[in-house]
Formats: sequence, structure tokens, C-alpha cells
Amino acid sequence: MAEDLSIVQGTKEEKYQSVIPQIKALVEGEPDLVANLANIVAALMEQFGWLWVGFYLVKENQLVLAPFQGPVACTRIRKGRGVCGTSWEKAVTVIVPDVEKFPGHIACSSKSRSEIVVPIIRGNKVMGVLDVDSDQLAAFDETDKHFLEEIVDLIIFE
Ligand code: SME
Repeated sequence: MAEDLSIVQGTKEEKYQSVIPQIKALVEGEPDLVANLANIVAALMEQFGWLWVGFYLVKENQLVLAPFQGPVACTRIRKGRGVCGTSWEKAVTVIVPDVEKFPGHIACSSKSRSEIVVPIIRGNKVMGVLDVDSDQLAAFDETDKHFLEEIVDLIIFE
């Protein structure tokens, strides 16, 4: 594909529907995990302009920071800790409309107001999570869950 991402205005659905085929084209035929994760976060950040978007990967029974865009973040998260560790432990997407009301939320940036974390599941194993933070309250809903789950399904693990 062309190197430039095509960015659209419009509804959340329209933005996802535009960016998902472009993400498919970016990762297609490329087996390198870090390269693909880096391009996925870049594409999402360009289209949506969230506060923070990135991946954590499960390594030696911890979540370890992987490609991301946004402010610096904590590097390691234990199972069950914070929103990311909860999504990993339960193997479900977690939507947090107000991070101050989520017990144990790990505040990487004081600007974060709401968050969604989507587990990357292969077989019955969580390989990592996709974490998105917004500086707006209640920025994420079932639409984000639906499309972000579709996006993490595109990731190829060797
Ligand atoms: N808030 C997350 C930690 C990761 S940062 O937001 C990038 C959590 O509670 O797990």
C-alpha cells in the first residue's frame, strides 16, 4: 500500500471502517510482530488521536510494554493489576468510563480519563493486550470493543 494513511472525518464506525482495511494491508505478508504492532498503533493514533495507544505482551508471566504512541508508560504489569492485568486475567475486553472509579487503576498519565483494554487471545491463551487511553471521560463503548477486537485478530504470532 501507499505509505500515507488515508484519514477520514466522520463517525467512530466510519473511522474504524476506513482504518481497518489499511491495517490489514500493512500487516499482510509481514511476519515481524514488533513491526506490525508498531504500524497498528501508528495507524490508530493517526486516525483517532487518542491520548495513548499501545500494546503490552505477556512475557515470563508479566505484561511488558511493547510498541505504543503517547506519553511514557509503566513497563511491567502483573496479572490482575490495573485495567490491563484485569483484562489479561479474565481474558475479556474491559471498558472503563472513568478511570478514577476503577479500583487499582494504574495511572501512567494523569491526563487519562477513560480506557479500554482488549486481550489478544490465541487458542486459550492471552498473548498480550491492546490498551487505549483517552483524555475524555467515557470515550469508549461497544463500538470500540467490536472493532478493536477485530483489529487484534489481525495480529500474526509466529
Ligand atoms: N492504565 C493501565 C496501565 C497502562 S497505561 O494506561 C498505558 C492499567 O490500569 O492497567
